[in-house]
Amino acid sequence: MGKIRVLSDTVANKIAAGEVVERPASVVKELIENSLDAGATDLRIEIDGGGRRLIRVADNGSGMLRDDALLAFERHATSKLSDVGDLLAIATLGFRGEALPSIASVSRLLLETRAPEETTGAAVEIAGGKILRCDEFSRPTGTTISVRDLFYNVPARKKFLRSDQTELAHIASLATHYSLAHPQKSFQLRHGAAELLDVTPVETLRERVYQVFGNQTLDELIDLEMVERELEVVEAEDRANRVFALRGFISGPQVQKLNRNSIFLFVNGRLIRDRVLLHALSSAYHNLMPPACYPFALLFLDCDCEEVDVNVHPSKTEVRFRHGTFVHDFVRDAIRERLIAARPASSLPIATPPQPAADLPFSDFTQRIENERFEPMPGSETEPERVEDLPVFTLNRTGSPEQRFDFQPLRPVSMPDTHGPLSPHIADAPQSLAVLSDLRPLGQIHDSFIIAAGRDGLWIVDQHVAHERILFEKVSRQQAQGRVERQQLLMPILLELTAAQQIEYARIAGELDRSGFDSEPFGIRTIAVKGAPAGVGPAEIEKLVFEILEMAEGEPSKVGLDDLRRAMAASIACRAAIKINMRLDQTKMEWLLNALAATDCPMSCPHGRPIALRYSTRDILKSFHRI
Ligand SMILES: Nc1ncnc2c1ncn2[C@@H]1O[C@H](COP(=O)(O)OP(=O)(O)OP(=O)(O)O)[C@@H](O)[C@H]1O
Ligand SMILES: [Mg+2]
Repeated sequence: MGKIRVLSDTVANKIAAGEVVERPASVVKELIENSLDAGATDLRIEIDGGGRRLIRVADNGSGMLRDDALLAFERHATSKLSDVGDLLAIATLGFRGEALPSIASVSRLLLETRAPEETTGAAVEIAGGKILRCDEFSRPTGTTISVRDLFYNVPARKKFLRSDQTELAHIASLATHYSLAHPQKSFQLRHGAAELLDVTPVETLRERVYQVFGNQTLDELIDLEMVERELEVVEAEDRANRVFALRGFISGPQVQKLNRNSIFLFVNGRLIRDRVLLHALSSAYHNLMPPACYPFALLFLDCDCEEVDVNVHPSKTEVRFRHGTFVHDFVRDAIRERLIAARPASSLPIATPPQPAADLPFSDFTQRIENERFEPMPGSETEPERVEDLPVFTLNRTGSPEQRFDFQPLRPVSMPDTHGPLSPHIADAPQSLAVLSDLRPLGQIHDSFIIAAGRDGLWIVDQHVAHERILFEKVSRQQAQGRVERQQLLMPILLELTAAQQIEYARIAGELDRSGFDSEPFGIRTIAVKGAPAGVGPAEIEKLVFEILEMAEGEPSKVGLDDLRRAMAASIACRAAIKINMRLDQTKMEWLLNALAATDCPMSCPHGRPIALRYSTRDILKSFHRI
């Protein structure tokens, strides 16, 4: 008896329905997922004409029984689900029984398969959903599905396809990221004669990241290792402990992308988009990176399948967590703690300003596909969404690896650079920041930057942002304890508010108090500020209050007060910090460096700017041709 069954209408109707095949990459995704569900350890993907002409996925998985080979093309026919209860705990990537019939209805498809239980296999040929032949034939176990002439019978859909290179880039992105989710399996991707990905089984994710992105990228990434948090779930009489585990790689705050294309999220091995996780990720970088910038992140979250509903989106690219807030806070804290522990510092060459969209970590792999931008499709308003649909492999390279490693002699970074822009390099944390407290200040440049000698080279520290970081952490600590050190003003400052500001004021008055402001309503739309956080000059207090009200207005209430508190601490720190163009004596410079060394995050100011730059002794020696 076969393994595949047609789902009852009751179950079928509970499945998120919709378009399954949107572009060649959707076909590749479904076929890869089927192979993974079939326990394959070797996946070979062959593409021709950007996936329009041919998509072939061959695997060494469990194959299908001959009886099942035809049934697989019935709608809602699946071996992975049988009753409604199963929908609550889906452990496989597929569950709807929709992918093969949908693909077969818009292409010419050939299925070749054999299960180990049978001595011969089956070949099924279908075009536009019509079965042309079904033969018995011999072949090794496993399955090969060839999809030709995609959308040949749906010209409207075909018109919306992009250039071969764009479609190929989407496919490459998918194959690559599924290969990252399964380091122990081999993946091969070929386009015509070109080999785009060929990875053999390895033990760890780190090794797979190395295979796919290369050593340079691996050096720039922080390994999250494995972080776990337990949640006790009480349901009716039952108590259960649910374990959530997070692993993966993230970039330090110096790597700043202008969009989310370098963020890859996997939940229980499924590549998804998810607002909760994206928000958790940006909260983790809050005050370490400028607001509109994004990191590189490759995150794998694993949990019991009861904790995540995957049946919410027709193409299975979104999920819903049963305990979203718990997941959010867990991911945010895990990443933030790791970022703080890594404490990376900028070393020269200085971090370049945020790069335009196209700059995923460089690798041989990306090099092998030509640059391709995703210009909006004419007349298509939905295109910006389509571009975000799948994580897109962006393929610009800013320079050859040799250029990236070239040490630039000591010269102003802003000088015209014939070598092209250099990328940020994150110095190894222990060797850089542990020595901060040993630094000997030599003096200032422009009364703004402290020059200091250390065991490991020469340092340049921006005095304003360094002090800002010190104060930010101090104010945050005091906020948490409920009271920020404050100064009483001789004369209250009267501030006139707009109606909107007045509403915000009423909402956040308690928070203002917690952050060191003594204030109260004073007649219509006016408040009197009688006390302010210590260190903020009288001229700055008014600006600070308005700045905070503005931030509160922009703060969606669902995000809660945490982010607002942090933003307030950052503003207070910025206003109270010593400015540039201020002479500092030796004792003050020493104090500043010591206090900076004692902070949790001495690498960037709360707004994400770098604090310290370092010329390592090795780089100096190299520049003088001594090594
Ligand atoms: N590569 C494969 N190896 C073995 N069996 C396969 C393979 N691809 C498909 N199948 C079988 O065919 C069935 C139908 O596949 P299909 O992709 O249409 O549905 P599904 O994977 O069950 O659900 P979904 O529509 O969510 O992907 C699967 O349930 C599985 O039993
Ligand atoms: Mg499937």
